[in-house]
Amino acid sequence: MSSASRYLLRKRKQIYDRMIRVDHAGEFGADRIYAGQMAALRRASPEKAKVVQELWDQEKAHLREFEYLLLKHRGRKSFLTPIWSAAGFALGYGSALIGHEAAMACTVAIEKVIADHYNAQIRELAADDLHAHKPLISVFSNFRDDEQHHHDTGLAHEAEKAPLYPTMSFVVENISKLAIKIAEKV
Ligand SMILES: [Fe+2]
Ligand SMILES: [Fe+2]
Repeated sequence: MSSASRYLLRKRKQIYDRMIRVDHAGEFGADRIYAGQMAALRRASPEKAKVVQELWDQEKAHLREFEYLLLKHRGRKSFLTPIWSAAGFALGYGSALIGHEAAMACTVAIEKVIADHYNAQIRELAADDLHAHKPLISVFSNFRDDEQHHHDTGLAHEAEKAPLYPTMSFVVENISKLAIKIAEKV
């Protein structure tokens, strides 16, 4: 193998490592957020809990796919996985304690950031080599559509009626962006 193709392979391995690690951490965090929301909503608001359960089931499927991709590409999980677990659950539980509107507002803010994040990854992979990265691009595109659906579901279930909606969106969006930056690295 020429040194040019070795360089290319190494570069692609680095891209996959970074993307799969951060996405696994994100899907893991999402799973814990919905677990937290369900813990608070199950009794307080059974109708809304049904809606959240559907979103949660999709996050579990996303997480399973990234567990598989980690194994397949021999990636490593974020070192901060225990923190994503605790922070995710606390955010989900805490927002849902305020009310289902706040839980939905939290969902809208996070899912917006995640959908944008998948779009950025799809653009990066397509710019590198559309053909070579087709399988991963297809996974990311499907998940992006799911996250967009979660975002729209939150809006359809009174997210905007949450107390201090603009402030909450701003804070949760920025926490999510920061978590992505961190999980790409560690
Ligand atoms: Fe997801
Ligand atoms: Fe989602």
